[in-house]
Amino acid sequence: MSLVLGIESSCDETGVGIVRDGRLLGDCLSSSMEQHIRFGGVVPEVAARAHLEAMVPTVREAVDRAGVSLSDVDAVAVTSGPGLATALQVGLAAAKGYAVALGVPLLGVHHLAGHVAADTLEHGALPERSVALVVSGGHTSLLLLGDLARDPIVHLGDTADDAAGEAFDKVARLLDLGYPGGPAIQRAAEAGDPEAIRFPRPTTGRFGFSFSGLKTAVARWVQRHDGPLPVADLAASFQEAVVDVLTAKAVDACTSHGVDTLVIAGGVAANSRLREVAEERCAAAGVTLRVPSPRLCTDNGAMIAAVGSMLTDAGAPWSRLDMSTDPSAPL
Ligand code: KG4
Ligand code: ZN
Repeated sequence: MSLVLGIESSCDETGVGIVRDGRLLGDCLSSSMEQHIRFGGVVPEVAARAHLEAMVPTVREAVDRAGVSLSDVDAVAVTSGPGLATALQVGLAAAKGYAVALGVPLLGVHHLAGHVAADTLEHGALPERSVALVVSGGHTSLLLLGDLARDPIVHLGDTADDAAGEAFDKVARLLDLGYPGGPAIQRAAEAGDPEAIRFPRPTTGRFGFSFSGLKTAVARWVQRHDGPLPVADLAASFQEAVVDVLTAKAVDACTSHGVDTLVIAGGVAANSRLREVAEERCAAAGVTLRVPSPRLCTDNGAMIAAVGSMLTDAGAPWSRLDMSTDPSAPL
């Protein structure tokens, strides 16, 4: 029985979660998103300062919600990367402080492993092998997974340029829909026709992605258009192009590797059209689809505690107290 405190601070969310033996007891999230809206994207220095202010109250609130006391904590897990350097440093410094003060191990966690592990909090342990599609503001990766705590993650493909979430954010800015773009595009798309405009579906290699050409195609379409923009149709058609490539490649990765479980995680996994099309295509291919509920798809501390819990169960080595962040951590 181990109680893990997880801390996430790689972007604009200060997330803290408390997990005992793979079960989420309580968590708390504090976001600086409002402070970034007028800049149209996350400003690292602003995010870091917000983490510093929010960290201790967020830890206190998560511990309260979990109905435990800090002195019950057996290990502290923290996102070591990838992410914004200054933002990561605040989380790591806090995690070191808690680990030293409590006299417990410190565990550095890869942010993408956290996104995948979020799913285990709701749907239990992953099977022996699975494929994960991690789609967020910074990543678009297709991964072949074994045991998350023991086996290396095999990287099947990535994006050659923009991440899927980044494309949502940039296209939303282009259409004046605000930030963050994903939820804004999804909302606008509800009133639109996904087949109104056939946008290209550029890719690289069998499992690689590329979204910058799609973003440019939307920009060109907007430039050439006279009169009021059909924003709903543009949003729906853009969203459809992203969802089409993501789901086609994810299902192909499963069938070609003889894997029967697909996990979709990361902020873009909150997208309802992505969930719908993935459900249809997985069902047709005989693949079981696992997607965390939207609140566990975006950055949070529970997912980091979930990996910490797996690592402690597997007897993984502790991280050193002089460990540093790895903002551009590879997989
Ligand atoms: O995982 P996340 O919270 O942070 C990163 O690690 O990047 O993902 C944030 C990204 C943003 O680009 C945001 O626009 C996108 O996820 N996102 C969505 C939706 N909700 C968040 N994209 C599409 N549809 C959504 N409903
Ligand atoms: Zn993330």
